[in-house]
Amino acid sequence: MSVRMIGTGSAVPKLRVTNEDLSRIIDTSDEWIYSRTGIRARHIAVEETTAQLAADAAEAALSMAQLAAEDIDLMIGATATPDRLLPGLACEVQRILGATRAVAFDINAACSGFLFGLNIADAYLRSGVYQNALVIGAETLSRLTDWTDRGTCVLFGDGAGAAVVAVDGAEETRGILGMVQGSDGGRGMVLSCANRPLNNPYVNHGNEIPYVHMNGQEVYKFAVKTVPAAIMQAVEKARLSVDEIDLFLLHQANYRIIEAVAKRLGQPMEKFPTNMQEHGNISAASVPILLDEVKRSGRIKDGDKIVLAGFGAGLTWGAAVLEW
Ligand code: COA
Repeated sequence: MSVRMIGTGSAVPKLRVTNEDLSRIIDTSDEWIYSRTGIRARHIAVEETTAQLAADAAEAALSMAQLAAEDIDLMIGATATPDRLLPGLACEVQRILGATRAVAFDINAACSGFLFGLNIADAYLRSGVYQNALVIGAETLSRLTDWTDRGTCVLFGDGAGAAVVAVDGAEETRGILGMVQGSDGGRGMVLSCANRPLNNPYVNHGNEIPYVHMNGQEVYKFAVKTVPAAIMQAVEKARLSVDEIDLFLLHQANYRIIEAVAKRLGQPMEKFPTNMQEHGNISAASVPILLDEVKRSGRIKDGDKIVLAGFGAGLTWGAAVLEW
């Protein structure tokens, strides 16, 4: 028995904002942003909601998997930017899709959210509790961004990615072969966003709207050290060597981080497809959108061995090895 990924999907908002566009509203330039991050553009939600983007991505994944919404019995929504605090994202997507048989809930592991969701789904499916799961990473980070802070607002974008994972009774050696996840709350404040202030009859903390706050250099150091180590552990768990991996699909925070990870793993950049040029960093949606784009481009063949890896706020990190 194995757990296989049988469908992927993604959706991004219509509005495409280039670095040039941003340079008209804040003191920045395409040269600065592109040379430090690899980002050229991002998509920003105007009419789109996190839930609708997630539902569009989920529908595309279901269609590839040739499953109906009613076939899904587990739906996990990974997000830090749901449209509402209650009900959660996954329940909203359940309503939109009519996935009436599913149990739906959210997790927040920031940019590692999709990997953590995949790990949860894998555990449920392997233990026989459920058969077909939908794992969604969806964000409208534009709502958490301080658009006057050029150090952060140029980095993020909006969008959603989804994957259907299912129990495969016949195959022993394919599907999800190894996963690791980790967290270090002790260093959490290097990338943070406060909730709305506490106001009640006993306390008044004001009405200031909180935004994402980041120590970019600390996050950079964390990523280039932790991600290669997590990938090595996941590859070992899968009883493979990194040379046997065909593609590494990493969280799309920054091209330089990906180059540094590739170098540490001794692997060529051709094995590391990127899309931050077009989407920026979409947190939990980043890995599943990249996976879907690479899958639909025809670059993933049956039997290919693929690493997925996410890292971000928490701090959190996760890596998975799949044989397609
Ligand atoms: N446009 C132009 N100048 C900018 C700018 C922008 N968008 N953002 C910052 N600057 C300026 C700063 O004000 C600073 O100017 P100063 O030297 O006059 O004070 C200078 O550029 C350097 O800023 P700094 O923050 O030290 O830049 P950096 O080299 O560390 O690069 C990041 C910033 C964010 C690109 C880099 O730290 C990084 O990629 N970190 C990882 C972040 C990440 O991946 N986060 C998500 C993880 S999930």
